[in-house]
Amino acid sequence: MSPNAKPTCNFIFFLLFFTVSFAVSDQKLTAYNAVRRYNLPPGILPKGVVDYELNIKTGDFEVHFNDTCEFTIQSYQLKYKSTISGVISPGHVKNLKGVSVKVLLFWVNIAEVFIDGADLDFSVGIASASFPAADFEESPQCGCGFDCNGLLFSS
Ligand SMILES: *[C@@H]1O[C@H](CO)[C@@H](O)[C@H](O)[C@H]1NC(C)=O
Repeated sequence: MSPNAKPTCNFIFFLLFFTVSFAVSDQKLTAYNAVRRYNLPPGILPKGVVDYELNIKTGDFEVHFNDTCEFTIQSYQLKYKSTISGVISPGHVKNLKGVSVKVLLFWVNIAEVFIDGADLDFSVGIASASFPAADFEESPQCGCGFDCNGLLFSS
């Protein structure tokens, strides 16, 4: 029995090895999956990412969209520039640039996003707003945010 089993085993290992190295060398994670790797919900990025760069040593990143993007989550009006940047680490984005929230009449830069228990906190420095992190499992869509189905039926 065992003399026959060994070559089969080697063949399976070969296949596994080949598959894994192919996946590593040839496929870049989507930006959304890269965010997930850092224990952050992918919905911190709206739909429509074109490309991104990430330095896995320092966590410095840049994400590119085709255009700016605006939507409302609950009562917060958010705006993403066509390029956003920051520094990502597990559960945390800091030095964020290019994402802002409208406070009264002014657009204020959101400097930090981080996981706080089951919540996702968006901080503008002196103030922050938290949302259930689970609400960000899906990416919001430019224009209608998380409420796109409602929009379809209301028009
Ligand atoms: C960005 O724009 C290019 C050129 O107009 C288009 O081909 C591509 O599908 C767009 N990408 C996204 C994610 O909208």
